[in-house]
Amino acid sequence: MSTRTPWWIRVPVLFFLIFGLMEYFIDSGDKPAIIEYPITQFFMLMVLMLLIAIELILKSIENIMFQTLSEEAKERYLASKAKKPEWKWAKNMLKSLTKSKSIEREGEVIMDHNYDGIRELDNVLPPWWVYLFYATIVFGVIYLVRFHIAGDYDQKLEYEQEVAAAKIAIEEYKKTAKDLVDVNTVEFLSDAADLSAGEKIFVANCVACHTADGGGSIGPNLTDEYWILGGGIKNVFNTISEGGRDGKGMIAWKQTLKPAEIAQVSSYVLTLVGTTPENPKAPEGEIWIDPDAPQQPQETETPEMEQVSDSTDVAMN
Ligand code: HEC
Repeated sequence: MSTRTPWWIRVPVLFFLIFGLMEYFIDSGDKPAIIEYPITQFFMLMVLMLLIAIELILKSIENIMFQTLSEEAKERYLASKAKKPEWKWAKNMLKSLTKSKSIEREGEVIMDHNYDGIRELDNVLPPWWVYLFYATIVFGVIYLVRFHIAGDYDQKLEYEQEVAAAKIAIEEYKKTAKDLVDVNTVEFLSDAADLSAGEKIFVANCVACHTADGGGSIGPNLTDEYWILGGGIKNVFNTISEGGRDGKGMIAWKQTLKPAEIAQVSSYVLTLVGTTPENPKAPEGEIWIDPDAPQQPQETETPEMEQVSDSTDVAMN
């Protein structure tokens, strides 16, 4: 009962200690447990009430015990209570870290010279500073050995590792964020779910001009190999996202559709290629050849050989 810490320190310290332990032990994902599980709020409230109750009980026990004491003992007890709590260890520590002389003992370190009454004390370097200095020496030695002699790792390696880790993190993120696709990253979605979603979008937005089977009316035929604005997933995505040429009637759908939806409808449009619509509109534009399409090995060799003969031609001329 004669604890020195006052109640207004004891109660909050215990409260936050329990709170911290609770947060540490309850696995609640990203959010703190107190938000994730509302029951813990109730629990902490109970803890607080319990702590206050314990304080009150202790206080009344103290009172009762006090009444049973003799007059002399009461006085002694009060006197011991009146003593201010002293932070002895803290004071000692401060003293040993500064080694400052108290004003009364300054005479021991005062130096002889005296300039117009201004005198100098020859204090020792404060130990906190000296320890810090030693620590830098230790750090320096370890650093030297580790990075300049043993060659643990260097900035380049550290950089490369971080970039690699970041790339993995980006890939992870992209998997969850489908709307992150743009014209540079879009790929043909062969998933049945994506294609049927694309079909729904097509039916809802595009059939008025392209007809349900893609044969075309106001808009061009989407089933043939001829493209005005380029075929392939990237061009089609770009056309749908940014719209056709001015005044032709094909608006920029990025205002209405999300990037993931544009990717879906683009993929669906590409599945129409090669089908036979009821009333096909005459082809417009040019036959589109995918420049990224894998070429036959012989085809790649021939131009190389041509090049070689070309260069010899040039050399001979
Ligand atoms: C108001 C009529 C209209 C609507 C609605 C419309 N389009 Fe178009 N679309 C056009 C026209 C007109 C063109 C030709 C644009 C040009 O010549 O620049 C076109 C061009 C295209 C092209 C490029 C064809 C090529 O040959 O390069 C694609 C792909 C396309 N539309 C897909 C869609 C999709 C998908 C939708 C629905 C989200 C849609 N369009 C809605 C009128 C429309």
